[in-house]
Amino acid sequence: MTDFSGQNVIVTGASSGFGEAIALKFAAAGAHVAMIARREEVLRALAQRIENDGGRALVFPCDVGDEAQIRATVRKIDAELGPIHVLVNNAGTNVVNRSIDATTMDDWRVVADVNLVSAYLFTNLLMPQMKERGAGTIINIGSRAANYPSLLSGVAYSSAKLGMHALNRVTNEEGNPHGVRACIINPGVTATPLLDRRPVPPPQEARKLMMQSEDIADTVLYAASLPLRANAERIDLYPTNTEVG
Ligand SMILES: NC(=O)c1ccc[n+]([C@@H]2O[C@H](COP(=O)([O-])OP(=O)(O)OC[C@H]3O[C@@H](n4cnc5c(N)ncnc54)[C@H](OP(=O)(O)O)[C@@H]3O)[C@@H](O)[C@H]2O)c1
Repeated sequence: MTDFSGQNVIVTGASSGFGEAIALKFAAAGAHVAMIARREEVLRALAQRIENDGGRALVFPCDVGDEAQIRATVRKIDAELGPIHVLVNNAGTNVVNRSIDATTMDDWRVVADVNLVSAYLFTNLLMPQMKERGAGTIINIGSRAANYPSLLSGVAYSSAKLGMHALNRVTNEEGNPHGVRACIINPGVTATPLLDRRPVPPPQEARKLMMQSEDIADTVLYAASLPLRANAERIDLYPTNTEVG
């Protein structure tokens, strides 16, 4: 396992699913992890678990759908943790209404804000210090839905995740000359609580056969552990078992 000692990592959406697994793996690899989500108690329990295992994790309760909260959180992280080496834009959500007919403007806005606008704002706030140091890694958690927009994933979610591809590309165009790289990981269906938001959630038996959060976390750490001269700009991580999605 690559040693991330001396590196500070931000993980958004760390209270569940991919984010929890990503925070645990970075902490186990020696990184200091700033964990962001709305559910403070869940984050505190996770931080305790990490500290019991000898790691260091800090909790930053924040609704990433709220610009002012993101700005305040980044300031707090800067004061408490210092420079950020790896930013993982993982927080995401979906709504039950998936068709254009059924999607309300509130649905559209929450999905755009939490998945796409937050990733942009964290990048906007953290890239300057990364460029100044000549080093930084930004991992964007996209989705298979960006490669195959569909009614199953929904119009708002597919559009937001496709937008993350543009954000990732421009981050590289702007950041690469300064040692900053961005990687977008596009997972297919994975067993996390997000699937409960489907109009028809998959049964537990099917979830056992799907990809698991650890698989995505391993991929994130792989991308972040490459030497800075190399960038896995885009990784499509799909399940081998296509019957269960
Ligand atoms: N599971 C899949 O099949 C799949 C496939 C492709 C891509 N993805 C993407 O992977 C990422 C992680 O999803 P997951 O499957 O791990 O889902 P999850 O278990 O539902 O976790 C979502 C995380 O995002 C956080 N979050 C949601 N809304 C937030 C808000 N307004 N402010 C702050 N944090 C917020 C949640 O924390 P709080 O509720 O505590 O705020 C939670 O920690 C998402 O971007 C998702 O779109 C998932």
